Amino acid sequence: MKSKIFLGICFASILLNACNNKQVEQSDDMDKLSNDPHSYANMNEVRTTHMSLDLAVNFDTKTLKGSVEHTLENSGGAEELILDSRDLNIEKVVLDNGQEAEFNLGEEDGTFGQPLSIKISPETKKVKIFYETSPGAEALQWLSPEQTLGKTHPFLFSQSQAILARTWIPCQDGPGVKFTYDAKIQAPVELMALMSAENGTEKTSDGVYTFTMDQPISSYLMALAVGDLKFQSTGRNSGVYAEPAILEDAVWEFESMQSMIDSAEALYGEYAWGRYDVLVLPPSFPFGGMENPRLTFATPTIISGDRSLVALIAHELAHSWSGNLVTNETWNDFWLNEGFTVYFEQRIMEKIYGKDYEEMQTKLGMGELKKTIARLKEEGKPEDTHLYLELEGRNPDDGLTDVAYEKGRFFLQTVESVVGRAEFDKFLKDYFTNNKFQQMNTEKFIALLKEKLLTTPELQEAVRIEDWIYGPGIPDNVPPTESSELERVGNAVAAYNAGEVKAADIDTAGYTTHHWLYFLRGLENLDSVKMADLDETFKFTGIGNAEIACDWYQHCIEQDYTYAFPAMSDFLIRVGRRKFLTPLYTRLAKTEEHKAWAKEVYAKARPGYHAVSYNTIDEILK
Ligand code: BES
Ligand code: ZN
Repeated sequence: MKSKIFLGICFASILLNACNNKQVEQSDDMDKLSNDPHSYANMNEVRTTHMSLDLAVNFDTKTLKGSVEHTLENSGGAEELILDSRDLNIEKVVLDNGQEAEFNLGEEDGTFGQPLSIKISPETKKVKIFYETSPGAEALQWLSPEQTLGKTHPFLFSQSQAILARTWIPCQDGPGVKFTYDAKIQAPVELMALMSAENGTEKTSDGVYTFTMDQPISSYLMALAVGDLKFQSTGRNSGVYAEPAILEDAVWEFESMQSMIDSAEALYGEYAWGRYDVLVLPPSFPFGGMENPRLTFATPTIISGDRSLVALIAHELAHSWSGNLVTNETWNDFWLNEGFTVYFEQRIMEKIYGKDYEEMQTKLGMGELKKTIARLKEEGKPEDTHLYLELEGRNPDDGLTDVAYEKGRFFLQTVESVVGRAEFDKFLKDYFTNNKFQQMNTEKFIALLKEKLLTTPELQEAVRIEDWIYGPGIPDNVPPTESSELERVGNAVAAYNAGEVKAADIDTAGYTTHHWLYFLRGLENLDSVKMADLDETFKFTGIGNAEIACDWYQHCIEQDYTYAFPAMSDFLIRVGRRKFLTPLYTRLAKTEEHKAWAKEVYAKARPGYHAVSYNTIDEILK
C-alpha cells in the first residue's frame, strides 16, 4: 500500500513538473495555493470557478450517470486541465468550441485515484465531461429498503470529505479550490433529492430536482441524498428533513436549532448561507455529522430523546463559519477547520445551555485528547499530535484524529485566556469576515494572529504558538478544565471504585449523557460482580443512547461480561457510525475468542456499513 501511494505521489509530481516545464504562468488574478499533497489537479494554473452537474440516479445499477461541466479560470494559459477521479468511467469530454477533447486517465492509486488529464487551449472556458460512477464509489452509500426506517424505499447519500468527492464527480478535489455550482438530478419519482445547495421542501411529480449554490464552496462539501424524505420547519431559516417515521422526534430533539443560529450570528457575524437545515440519515451514516453547506447531514444516533446530544448540531452549524467560509487550504491544516469549530461550538452551547454544560464537555474533551495523545505516542506517531500535520503520501483519513479537534480547541482557549474574551471575539469575528469564501493555511493564520492579536513578544510568549502548533502533546499553559458537575460524578465513581458503595447507593438524579460518560470512563477495578451490579441498577445493556452504550460495551468486552454481547451485536449491526465502531472492534480484536466473535458479527454488519467505516474495521479485524 505504502509503495502504491508513493508511486501515486511521484506520478502526480511528475505531471505537475511536466506542466511547470511548459512554463505555464500562474495567473495574477488567482491566489497561489500551497501544494496539495492529496490532489493531482494543476490548480495553480487553471481553476474551476463553477460546476454544472446533470446526473441520473439509478438504484438498480447503483450508479450516477450524466455529465459535469466545469467553467474555468485559465488566465495562466494552461493547455492541460488535470482533475482528480477515482473509479469513474469517463465516456467523453467536450469543449466549449463543440469539439471532443483528448483525455487520458493516469496510473491508478488505491487511495488517490487517477489524474484525469484533458487537453484544452488557453481560450477554453468550459469543459464538459460525460461519465458514470461505479457501484463501489466510496463516497456513495446505496441503502436497500431494509436499511431504512420506512423499509419500503431505497436511500442514497454521499460523504465527500476528505478526498471522496472524486469518486462521484471528476473535479479539482482539494479544499483550496472553491467554486459555485448548479445541478439537475433525476431521481426515482417516489423519492426526494437534496443537495448542499438551495433545496425545495416538497417532492416533485417527475423526480427531477434542480439546485443552485451561489456561494463558492470546496469539493469536499459537495453532497447529495435521495430518499423518502419529508421536511418540517424549526424556525425562521431552519428546518429538518428526515424519513417520515422519525421527523417528529427529530424536530423535538433539535428544538434549539434556531436559537443556535441566532447565538452564532451574535458571536461571529451574519450567517452567510441563507437557510440552515439538517438532514437526518439512516444509522449507517459513518459520521456524527457533516457540515454540508445549507444542509448538515446527521446521524440519527443523536436523537436520544432528551436533547442531550444537540452539541453536534452546534458543531456542524459552527462550520458554516469555520470551514465552510474560511476553509483549510489542505488537509495538513485540518485543525483550522475542526479546532475552531469545537471552540465555536462550545461558545454556542455555553450561551444556550450555560457554563456547567460547556465545562462538562470541555473536561470530557480533555480526557479523550489525553487518551488519543497517549495512543499516538505508543503507536510511534508523535507527529500526529501536532496541530499542523504533514500528511503527504498518506490517506488524510488516517491522520485526522481528535487532536485537530480538541488540541485545536484548547489552543484557542489558551489564546483567549491570554488576551481576554472580548479581544479574542473581536479578532475571530474579523477573521471570519475578512477571509470569507477563501482558504486559510497554518502559516498565514499564525501571521494574522501575531499581526492582529498577539502583537507583543510578551503576548506571544504567554501563548507559545509554536509549541502548540508544531510540537507534540499539550503545552502546560493550557487553562484548567474544571467542572463542578463532573466533580460530583468523580466523587461517586471514586467511592464505587474503592468498594465503599453499591451502585444503588449512588445519587444519579439529574445525570445527563455527559455525567454518565464521565462516570463510565472513571470506573476502575471492575469485576463480574460489579458489572452485574451496575447493569442491574442502571440498565446499561441495550440502552438507546448510543454514546452511553458505546462506553458501556467497552467495559463489557474488557470484563468479558457476555450477558451484554447479544445487545452489543445488535448495536454493531444497526449503527454504522465509525466513532462507535472503532473502539469496540479494537477491544474485541485483543483476544482470539472475542475476535472470532467480532468476525461473526462483522460478517452480518459489514454489508450495512459505509466504505469510510468498513475500510477502518477491515484493518482492525484483518
Ligand atoms: N467535518 C467533520 C466530519 C469529517 C471529518 C468527515 C473528517 C470526514 C473527514 C464533522 O464536522 C465532524 O467533526 N463530525 C463529528 C461530530 C462533532 C460533534 C465532533 C463526528 O462525526 O463525530
Ligand atoms: Zn467538524
